[in-house]
Amino acid sequence: MEVIIKETPEEMSRLSAELIAEVIRHKPRAVLGLATGSTPLGTYKELIRLHKQEGLDFSRVVTFNLDEYVGLAHDHPQSYHYFMWENLFKHININAKNVHIPDGTAKDIPGFCRWYEEQMVKAGGLDIQLLGIGGNGHIAFNEPGSSLGSRTRVKTLDEKTRQDNARFFRSLNEVPKYAITMGIGTIMDSRQLILLATGSGKAEAILRTCEGPITAMVPATIVQLHPKATIIVDKQAASKLTREYPAEPSVLVLA
Ligand code: F6R
Repeated sequence: MEVIIKETPEEMSRLSAELIAEVIRHKPRAVLGLATGSTPLGTYKELIRLHKQEGLDFSRVVTFNLDEYVGLAHDHPQSYHYFMWENLFKHININAKNVHIPDGTAKDIPGFCRWYEEQMVKAGGLDIQLLGIGGNGHIAFNEPGSSLGSRTRVKTLDEKTRQDNARFFRSLNEVPKYAITMGIGTIMDSRQLILLATGSGKAEAILRTCEGPITAMVPATIVQLHPKATIIVDKQAASKLTREYPAEPSVLVLA
């Protein structure tokens, strides 16, 4: 696991987009795992720039999103379907058939979750998974206490997560109580992980993720076990770390 501290969220985003672009350049049919929320927005902006200005080609890229709220229609402005099309997909040359996002309106949700896992396997497995982190240490919607070996399934959202996400809805009442989420085991199967965090609100979760013991109480700590994980944070999210960390990942220094 490499921890990289960047001065600003913009620098963090440029580096994470560059790591993803590298995967696509080496493997045009790359399988990307994608996240929603505020944190990856800068990465998506930079990927759009790389597509428009430098010809980064998404025509064969396959994507799988981490999660989706149960009960929100695909065109609901707070659904993760809507988020992904607005903030990334409609700006790049991705083939809609290659986009996979959990279906929060599925009638048979357990059946859907099994199908979603199968599609990832059929696609050849995830090459790189982009992750944010909750203030409580969740990754995707795997809340504290989630099994570290879990697969795609429905989870009840923590009150803290609903409150954190209420900023996107008109009121806390409107925030869904359940979500479909890739499991921690699903995420760990990805060949590479990038975990991003910005701001002091994530500092405690980042401290525990980078320097604490591995525990289901802080699901992000599992990335310590991944052979190719890069945690990229800005100065504020890094403010509680006690060890020294570099500003560039070793792959870029060696390149
Ligand atoms: C979203 C997701 C969540 C977020 C996390 C942080 O797909 O998986 O785990 O990454 O809640 O959200 P932001 O980036 O809004 O602080």
